[in-house]
Amino acid sequence: MRIFSGIQPTGRKHLGNYVGAIRQYVAGQERAVEAGGDAIFCIVDLHATTVQYDPAELRERLYDTTALLLAAGLDPARCVLFRQSDVQEHAELCWLLCSVTAHGDLNRMHQFKDKSAQQRELVSAGLFLYPTLMAADVLAYRATEVPVGDDQRQHVELMRDIALRFNARFAAEREPVLVVPEHRIPEVGARIMDLQEPTRKMSTSSSSVEGTLYVLEEPAALVKKFKRAVTDSDNEIRFDRAAKPGVSNLLELLAVARGTTIADAQASMADARGYGDLKLATAEAVDGLLAPVRERYAELRPDEAAIEEALGAGAEKARAIASGVLADVREVMGVGPRR
Ligand code: TYM
Repeated sequence: MRIFSGIQPTGRKHLGNYVGAIRQYVAGQERAVEAGGDAIFCIVDLHATTVQYDPAELRERLYDTTALLLAAGLDPARCVLFRQSDVQEHAELCWLLCSVTAHGDLNRMHQFKDKSAQQRELVSAGLFLYPTLMAADVLAYRATEVPVGDDQRQHVELMRDIALRFNARFAAEREPVLVVPEHRIPEVGARIMDLQEPTRKMSTSSSSVEGTLYVLEEPAALVKKFKRAVTDSDNEIRFDRAAKPGVSNLLELLAVARGTTIADAQASMADARGYGDLKLATAEAVDGLLAPVRERYAELRPDEAAIEEALGAGAEKARAIASGVLADVREVMGVGPRR
């Protein structure tokens, strides 16, 4: 078993990132250690260059994101944690996989449609190829599992298609060269919604500050954002995503933060006097979940040299795996000298 996932060093990481992805990384790390497998996590700075960005800020956000992952419980002694651009095999494999990526498939990607509509100056070719680079990230390690939130489902489907097409095209007569990975999307918390617009997902690029709860949110601001969360005009605390999206989002967060089921979270609110009680209970539970991460982050973030050292060691381990896979890919594609 080999787990791989990636996270962008953009913006401030929010509760959706934490609940949908980061906590699965930590769980995955523990499962991998137990099973004698590997868990590999990558901060994808090359992906972050596909939209307008500020170069100096990218580096800061890279440290922020790495410190956050460490604070959340990723341990470089138990997993591989590295920066995408440190392992050049990702960019090379992306190019090679372009030969088996259908233009029409890239055109159908929801994320490309959404993000290209948001770009004011330039829709870059990189944004279009984003899913192929993502496929390269995972396929370079022959990963079997990809923990992600629900919004990445389509991208994981595409990387499966790319792996299958690659094997059929270049390795039909021999052992498959690439492994076809499975997504791992959590049952609860895979799609956390914007607190102000609960029919839209919480998103770094399109949510408002009021609608987004940051992982590092100060407790007072956290309570305020939950108090102001949009619910609905009746008074019934019931999980029903279609009819009651705001209340359902709060119940889902309450369940995740307490480690219970949504049904239990709903039952615990049976005596509540109104939505105010639900909002406060959720704020308290979410603060309990995030407070240790916040505290640990404050300790880790200032030491950029230590962060670089951890990333450098991670990149070495990553390269050792990816270079072997790339050698096989080049060989079957007829690229470079005969082996
Ligand atoms: P990024 O940084 O945009 O998102 C990181 C993770 O957070 C999840 N997520 C959510 N989960 C629940 N509710 C939400 N509202 C929410 N918003 C975001 C995302 O699904 C993601 O898992 N394209 C990837 C980065 C990537 C990657 C990879 C992932 C690059 N290469 C290879 C897996 C494997 C992304 O969206 O990052």
